[in-house]
Amino acid sequence: MSTNNMVDVARAGDLAPDSALKIELEGQDIALVRCDEGVFAIGNRCSHADVDLSEGEVEGCALECWLHGSQFDLRTGEPLSLPALEPVPTYRVDIVGDGDDARVLIDPTPQLPSSSD
Ligand code: FES
Repeated sequence: MSTNNMVDVARAGDLAPDSALKIELEGQDIALVRCDEGVFAIGNRCSHADVDLSEGEVEGCALECWLHGSQFDLRTGEPLSLPALEPVPTYRVDIVGDGDDARVLIDPTPQLPSSSD
């Protein structure tokens, strides 16, 4: 397991299920989200009107913007519903350790989905 570039940002136990936590890492706003599929990190600013996605609801493996309701896939950053059209970045997450004391590490390099299949 490589931990190059990975930054320790939280304790796993601090992330409630189906909730989002806003963090700032190297000048970037990031929403750290725990859902049924694990822990994910995506850009915190909605690509539609630049509000905090971390204040929205977690729905399955998506985070819903509280302002106009676009959902963003936590795995890819892609919008799943209108009005947002552009993806938000994703960040690689590693969990080191077990249980609530496990550490959540994030690679602060933003990744954007490729524009074609
Ligand atoms: S501001 Fe997020 S969908 Fe409009």
